[in-house]
Amino acid sequence: MPISRQVAESLGRASWIRRMSDEARALRAERGAGEVFDFSLGNPDLEPPQAFGEALSRVAADPARGTHGYMPNLGYPEVREAVARRASRDQGLEIPAGLVAMSAGAAGGLNVVLKTILDPGDEVLAFRPYFAEYLFYVQNFGGAFVPVDSSPGFRPDPEALRAALSPRTACLILNSPNNPTGRVYGRESLAAVAEVLEEQGRRTGRMPYLVADEPYREIAYRGVEVPSPMLAYPETIVVSSWSKSLSLPGERIGYVAVSPRCAEPKAIVEGLAFSTRVLGFVNAPALMQRTVAGLLDQRADVASYERRGGRLARGLREAGYEFEEPEGAFYLFVRVPERAAPAPADPRGPDVAFAMHLKERGLIAVPGVGFGCPGYFRLSYCVSEATIEGSLPRFAEALESWRRAG
Ligand SMILES: Cc1ncc(COP(=O)(O)O)c(C=O)c1O
Repeated sequence: MPISRQVAESLGRASWIRRMSDEARALRAERGAGEVFDFSLGNPDLEPPQAFGEALSRVAADPARGTHGYMPNLGYPEVREAVARRASRDQGLEIPAGLVAMSAGAAGGLNVVLKTILDPGDEVLAFRPYFAEYLFYVQNFGGAFVPVDSSPGFRPDPEALRAALSPRTACLILNSPNNPTGRVYGRESLAAVAEVLEEQGRRTGRMPYLVADEPYREIAYRGVEVPSPMLAYPETIVVSSWSKSLSLPGERIGYVAVSPRCAEPKAIVEGLAFSTRVLGFVNAPALMQRTVAGLLDQRADVASYERRGGRLARGLREAGYEFEEPEGAFYLFVRVPERAAPAPADPRGPDVAFAMHLKERGLIAVPGVGFGCPGYFRLSYCVSEATIEGSLPRFAEALESWRRAG
């Protein structure tokens, strides 16, 4: 037995995102790059802003002694100060630097938070569709992942949330702007979620945490507001990163901010420091901490994502596809089209069958089952405008032939 049963099983349920991106690679080798339109990965295609390279060079050239040494597990104090000021602006309340922990991206931050708050058997809730890695992060700490249905239009459903809560509920992970739906949850949605969680706290004596996963906070369109979860609910922990907002996913830099309204914020932060250390991160990457601290007013060219998302959405809509208009992030979550006549059920599920139908036409999408929502597929539009333009006639033909085949 070379590896654990649990990891072997997890490998068997390997990420559909990776699987489809591998399919794209194989197809490119077979047919040539010009014949493949790859919408599988959420890897920002924009380069980081010019100021990033300049800041990095400055930081790297700093001759001060000890700049590559260990530091407190939570990060450099001056970086935490700067990030706390920025997070306070985003969240609309004063977050002291002492409640900020620097992390290895949002993924590192989520793992550190879950290690800090979960006991084995504790439950972690997330609305469908969800970022598929949550399931494995929760498993890392012996937790149970509990998917909760969304309301139509992919907004949080307070009734479904109420039904999913139990005395073992440790937290709800809420991701807005959302991967994969592009939804931004408004104030009313957050207030409704908060009301249900508070009611649970009053009834059971255990207030679940709201873990707000916000790596896409900066990528919102048409001036849509991304409201503050910290203002909506006291027991909130925000996790974010510069992976998407500055196009730095390979640099692994992010942060966790604990709400000052939590009942025991200091205990949480002590837990975060310990978890950062014993999970083997020890601290967030030193050079990157110093670099992003000077770039807190910079962000990606959001207009470019909005333009491309708009073009893809318009083209797909004209072809007859159905989906919610994206409000942020860079994904479309599209309904698998109906067949013209009832067809025998495909054992792979409709979304996998349709993703394979698209693949035959050189179009790479991720089936919704990868996000807990069969019946849909995800398109990531951080791709070139040429890819979008070239793909549209193929999407139109794919829909026609799928319908006819029914
Ligand atoms: C919803 C969501 N959460 C977390 C992450 C992880 O982000 P990071 O690269 O900062 O670890 C991603 C990355 O795609 C994501 O889409």
